[in-house]
Amino acid sequence: MEIAFLLNGETRRVTVKTPVQSVLDWLRAEGLTGTKEGCNEGDCGACTVIVTDETGPRAVNACLMMMPQLAGKALRTVEGVASLQGELHPVQQAMIDHHGSQCGFCTPGFITSMAAAHTNRRTDYDDLLAGNLCRCTGYAPIIRAADAAAEAPVPAWMQGDLNFDFAQISSGLPGQKDPAFLPQSVDELADWYEAHPDATLVAGGTDVALWVTKQLRDLPEVVFLSHCRDLAQIRETDVGYEIGAGVTIAALRAWAEGPHPALAGLLRRFASEQVRQVATIGGNIANGSPISDGPPALIAMGASLTLRRGNVRRNMPLEDFFLDYRKQDRLPGEFVESVTLPNAAPDLACYKLSKRFDQDISAVCGCFNITVEGSIIESARVAFGGMAGVPKRATAFENALIDQPFTEESFAAALPVLEQDFTPMSDMRASAAYRMNAAQAMALRYSRERSGAAVSVLEVTP
Ligand SMILES: Cc1cc2nc3c(=O)[nH]c(=O)nc-3n(C[C@H](O)[C@H](O)[C@H](O)COP(=O)(O)OP(=O)(O)OC[C@H]3O[C@@H](n4cnc5c(N)ncnc54)[C@H](O)[C@@H]3O)c2cc1C
Ligand code: FES
Ligand code: FES
Repeated sequence: MEIAFLLNGETRRVTVKTPVQSVLDWLRAEGLTGTKEGCNEGDCGACTVIVTDETGPRAVNACLMMMPQLAGKALRTVEGVASLQGELHPVQQAMIDHHGSQCGFCTPGFITSMAAAHTNRRTDYDDLLAGNLCRCTGYAPIIRAADAAAEAPVPAWMQGDLNFDFAQISSGLPGQKDPAFLPQSVDELADWYEAHPDATLVAGGTDVALWVTKQLRDLPEVVFLSHCRDLAQIRETDVGYEIGAGVTIAALRAWAEGPHPALAGLLRRFASEQVRQVATIGGNIANGSPISDGPPALIAMGASLTLRRGNVRRNMPLEDFFLDYRKQDRLPGEFVESVTLPNAAPDLACYKLSKRFDQDISAVCGCFNITVEGSIIESARVAFGGMAGVPKRATAFENALIDQPFTEESFAAALPVLEQDFTPMSDMRASAAYRMNAAQAMALRYSRERSGAAVSVLEVTP
């Protein structure tokens, strides 16, 4: 298929021979080797580039992005962060002034992450730079540099990406639908996928990219969801909020700050800025991983899922979607269209335990949504990731709590019941015993937090 996009301010038309070719591989083959390959799996940030579309610029990992996902967008690599005449971007000058680079392998990725943040006027650097690893310089001089550049105007050459005509760049390209297809709407996707049920759906591609780069899998037929704008909407309905499957984790997090702050807090711990900017909630659910962070929180909230095949839709409670390890209730040609959340879940709390605070997959993720009437527990929805082959509700534990007084003693008495709900496994992230211990500690943490105690590592001081 042929795609067109803006590369460092200039229009490029490219014939994509292999739809799953990564942007990183393509760039390096083009001689744009400033974009580095470190891990090739989204962990180090050395491959960070800036991709701009109608929704604005974002830092993303080139190793996780496939070429068709670039269609109609603007790509800026580290080579394009300075002007064509060689004038440095304010963040580049600041990195020099503040000694922000030592061996320099990480530096291009830092520069692009910082330049995207600078254009977006964001200064939450602890969060924004958590997906960029530096092992020589250390973060203090880098954050000093980012701070120093924050007030400088956005250079004119960077603003060009914001103002180009996104529709025009793609016009005139032949619409080639196989083997890689880029539908522009959910209806188009539904029709095509029903007729091609063996195709691989790629939403953000942050899971699928690793099948290619790490497992060296061949994906002969692929359909990209990234251009279905109507799949990326959040709508208020009679029963709550309908979140389109294509809503990114970053967009969901920003939205949830209002109605669902506990969910937003959990999503701040989801991967890194670069991954959150492309990863979708639909991909997180459909992937069926027992350690995905979205499903436990959504199950605890009482979310329901809408699946679609052609024009036929069906709904189910989210917990019913996960049948067994990596086995979901999804028919050939059927896809996740949306997930519906309640308007509010004021009793929700989500706890993620991972080896690193940032940019790490959960060993255990526990989500609690317990309502109290008077002082008695009226209803309970508790779900865990990392405790079974699927994200799963703790129904025996919930039943042990219902009708009990909301006290730490009630929670302590119910803790052994978690062993009826779960037989966790041991793996490199945690042993079975540690997982059970952590889940029980999370339950106690919830009871203490609801009683006003400070329980977060960000709040507890020695
Ligand atoms: C470095 C790194 C860190 C990560 N950290 C976390 C983390 O902290 N927490 C976490 O939960 N996950 C994490 N992940 C995993 C991943 O980012 C998430 O699972 C993400 O939400 C997947 O979304 P996606 O849009 O990228 O999915 P994709 O990779 O596009 O797809 C994933 C799967 O879902 C299918 N699919 C996608 N969309 C649909 C749909 N609408 N209907 C049906 N099937 C669909 C695909 O075919 C594929 O099987 C991490 C990944 C990386 C690389
Ligand atoms: S190469 Fe490490 S994140 Fe892409
Ligand atoms: S300067 Fe060497 S890893 Fe950052």
